[in-house]
Amino acid sequence: MRPTDREMWLLNFFRNSELHGALLMGRLARSLSGTELLTNITRHCATEAHHAALLTDVIADLGGEVDPTTGTIQEHYSREGGVPKVLVDLLVLSEVLENRVLSAYREQLNSAGLHPKVRVVLEEILREEEEHGAGENTWLEQTLRKYSVAQVADSRQRWSEIDRKVAGQIYSQLDSLFPVETQS
Ligand SMILES: [Fe+2]
Repeated sequence: MRPTDREMWLLNFFRNSELHGALLMGRLARSLSGTELLTNITRHCATEAHHAALLTDVIADLGGEVDPTTGTIQEHYSREGGVPKVLVDLLVLSEVLENRVLSAYREQLNSAGLHPKVRVVLEEILREEEEHGAGENTWLEQTLRKYSVAQVADSRQRWSEIDRKVAGQIYSQLDSLFPVETQS
């Protein structure tokens, strides 16, 4: 069983997004300060890079082509909301984006026709996210507690609105590129 072009596109999209996340975290790990923060950011960079590697390996393993030009989920957010200029916005966006990616993976895991090898990879990524503390007590969450409640709430509201728009866009882009009816 070979994945469809639609599935391959999505795997590349996820792979490029994980890589983009890793590169962003890597840049922050080279520019911010504070041992605790930098420890967390460096670990986050490594986790995202590991996810990108797992997805890259599965694309290759399934006989697909690794395509760095597919685009990233981050591009959708910056198209709608611009590029964050202050750290609090960047942290909030990272949190919102992380949750969006995880729910996209869960959605894929719920689809019946998912290739077993892709299932293994997505389950491993989700398990790793959970081990590294998805949800309430992530380093992002802890760091955001250092900012004013109002500032964080404003930023969360803004990026959550953008997030709702982006959530719809990804699948409509996918549907326009690969209409579901034509899939084998
Ligand atoms: Fe990830």
